[in-house]
Amino acid sequence: MGVLTGKVAIVTGAGQGVGRCHAELLAREGASVVVNDLSDLADEVAAAINSAGGRAVACKGSVTDWSFAESLVATAIREFGDLHILVNNAGFIRDAMSFSMEEAQFDSVVSVHLKGHFAPAHFAALHWRNKAKELEGTEGGLPARRIINTTSESGLFGGPGQGNYGSAKGGIITMTTILARELSRYNVTVNCIAPRARTPMTEVNPKFAKPETGFDKYDPANISPMVAFLASDLAADINAQTFIVLGDQVHRMRPAEIAGSVSAGGKQWTVEDLAAAKGQLFGDSSSGVPAWGGPPM
Ligand SMILES: NC(=O)c1ccc[n+]([C@@H]2O[C@H](COP(=O)([O-])OP(=O)(O)OC[C@H]3O[C@@H](n4cnc5c(N)ncnc54)[C@H](O)[C@@H]3O)[C@@H](O)[C@H]2O)c1
Repeated sequence: MGVLTGKVAIVTGAGQGVGRCHAELLAREGASVVVNDLSDLADEVAAAINSAGGRAVACKGSVTDWSFAESLVATAIREFGDLHILVNNAGFIRDAMSFSMEEAQFDSVVSVHLKGHFAPAHFAALHWRNKAKELEGTEGGLPARRIINTTSESGLFGGPGQGNYGSAKGGIITMTTILARELSRYNVTVNCIAPRARTPMTEVNPKFAKPETGFDKYDPANISPMVAFLASDLAADINAQTFIVLGDQVHRMRPAEIAGSVSAGGKQWTVEDLAAAKGQLFGDSSSGVPAWGGPPM
């Protein structure tokens, strides 16, 4: 019996890459899985899960389409009776520096990540709120529900050439906190991972190559145990958190916090007084572009 026996999960963008690994591990841990992607790759992954003894169905379509997102959640409920776990993972990159970025590059990337996370979350949340109302006053409490979102180190630290992608991924971290605050009353936790792995998205970079011997640090399957853990009842007390996950490492990010403060003392600041207070506001901290804070390759 796996840690997710009896649970129903949706994994978006699960036709390849880390999403496929998530879908396969969630199924091995006992979840029934709705495998979403744009193409027939979703059918292949669902078939592979079923032939390995798991339970899965494919649901093809774009997570940026509001009504498709509704049918994705409806598929989980129709096929498997409920929805407990939503893994928002689908996405792509279209990198360009700010001065070269075209409107379509910006819009498509912001849409697939921000709207593509929010639309399935919206319909999952609607279902969970309705179920909570139905169960009000009954014994046994509300079933555990999970959303696991996917950000990026670019969203955490600001990757140059990714004004579309990094901005959307940063928004996903904020969205995670918002959804966690809104949905905890329905026994939903919402957490976020920033994976780093060798996939069709990253394999052009030789640093992700599989080593000839030893631990394959960038195997995308290395990411999925953290997703299965967050999806499980073992992580019921983890909420609104973000983790960088790669190889054998999990890094917990500090939530946004105030780093320094000054006050004008009950009156409006003047520009000159703000300039004079700069040293107090920053203390020993740098006032320039922060160093990249991610773990080394
Ligand atoms: N691979 C990494 O190192 C890395 C690093 C940081 C973040 N990420 C994030 O992890 C997630 C998965 O990335 P990956 O590396 O596995 O990429 P990938 O390209 O291998 O897989 C992404 C999948 O999403 C699907 N997809 C794209 N648009 C979709 C849409 N509108 N609706 C449904 N499916 C759609 C694609 O068809 C593809 O199968 C992405 O959100 C990515 O931004 C990956």
